[in-house]
Amino acid sequence: MPSTSVAYVVDQLAADIQGGKLAPGTALPTHRQLAAIHGMAIASASKVYAQLKAMGMVVGETGRGTFVRDRPAQREWDSSDEARLNANTTDLSFNHPTWPGQADLLRTMLRNLAASGDLATLMRQQPPGGRRHERQIVADFLTSQRGIDADERHVFLVNGAQQGLDIVARALLEPHDKVAVDALTYPGFRMLAEHLRLHLQPIPGHPDGPDLNALENICRQHRIRAIYTMPTLQNPLGWVLSTEQRQRLVGIARQHDCLLIEDASYAFLVDPAPPALATLAPERTVYVSSLSKSLASGLRFGFVVAPDACAGRIKSAIRASYWSMPSLLTAMATRWIADGTVARQEAMLRQDAFDRQAIAREVLAGMDIITHPASMFLWMNLPEDLRMDRIATALARRGIAVSKAQAYATTRHAPHALRLGLSSLPTAQLRSVLMQVRDTIDRFPI
Ligand SMILES: Cc1ncc(COP(=O)(O)O)c(C=O)c1O
Repeated sequence: MPSTSVAYVVDQLAADIQGGKLAPGTALPTHRQLAAIHGMAIASASKVYAQLKAMGMVVGETGRGTFVRDRPAQREWDSSDEARLNANTTDLSFNHPTWPGQADLLRTMLRNLAASGDLATLMRQQPPGGRRHERQIVADFLTSQRGIDADERHVFLVNGAQQGLDIVARALLEPHDKVAVDALTYPGFRMLAEHLRLHLQPIPGHPDGPDLNALENICRQHRIRAIYTMPTLQNPLGWVLSTEQRQRLVGIARQHDCLLIEDASYAFLVDPAPPALATLAPERTVYVSSLSKSLASGLRFGFVVAPDACAGRIKSAIRASYWSMPSLLTAMATRWIADGTVARQEAMLRQDAFDRQAIAREVLAGMDIITHPASMFLWMNLPEDLRMDRIATALARRGIAVSKAQAYATTRHAPHALRLGLSSLPTAQLRSVLMQVRDTIDRFPI
């Protein structure tokens, strides 16, 4: 057979992967087999796989071989966005923890589960909110890791923090209720409010947190049913409220009888952190978090801790919606919590986020950045004359996906800014990708 060039084989395999002919997870020929198929040297076959790996299309697993990588397009739902992800896009728009041991962790867990006794219980429906011993594991975890005195009866297992927020809003709020939120807030809550016809009242922000005087005025002028807040590592601005700010927030909520919806999705990154609102005001705080940012976003494992007075309504909202979590999944997640995997992973990611922030600070020095040294993301205000959509498009052309400020804005006008997630790509690539971001902005519109 005539020998074929490395580039030709790379193109052919890349086309088969992109075109769907080779499905995610497909085992590819060994280096030796690939070399034989194409009449090339084994070293050339290795180069083929190295290039496909660099393009993000395949993964090599030691001792097992090379597989087509599954990289779902995160933006599939948003067809208007030019930053749609494909296999070659660098994703700065999301934070998905990806770390080398993930596949092995799952493999070991599946093996252990397969070998465990009474496996048939995982084929049975769980009670709404989860099985008691699994809720207890989450409660103990929250007590030891987050300082929250959680009781198993008040813990509910949900498919990720987003569903937790949805269940809380369905259970405890009604259409047209007014909810105070940061002027720039987590887009998932904004979308949820739109679907449930909640009215968002934006709280103007200071660099270090929401303007609490403004919040007080809002509460005086409107009947605010709930305050949605991320006191530890606010998404997108990265602020961490001090104990004093938290106490004042709780004081306002008590005075105006508002529910506090505390979203702690990124809270694990700050250690030690000031007390959770769920600790300061357990009687009116619903605490929502997940393992999406620490262990795996595809696991869809989250939890809600609710005050006693709200627990019944949350349970019935769960019963009316998804009924219960998949038993197999909660078994895996709670075992990872109980055996210390999650705590270890969180500690590792704290260091990782810190290292990535240091790189970002260095590369983006002099630019208008708002962030926190422990955060997995940063907020970049663009120079006066630059529009966020044009910069996002220019970056998309260079294969870099970012989030635009308008997704976070609850006010009519969004600032021209971008949010960059720093954690979805290997640390080794971060510097060069951020340099490309900087270069694109510095030289725009060239
Ligand atoms: C602040 C915040 N809350 C909730 C979520 C949703 O998390 P999950 O993947 O657990 O649904 C996210 C995800 O990006 C987030 O940033």
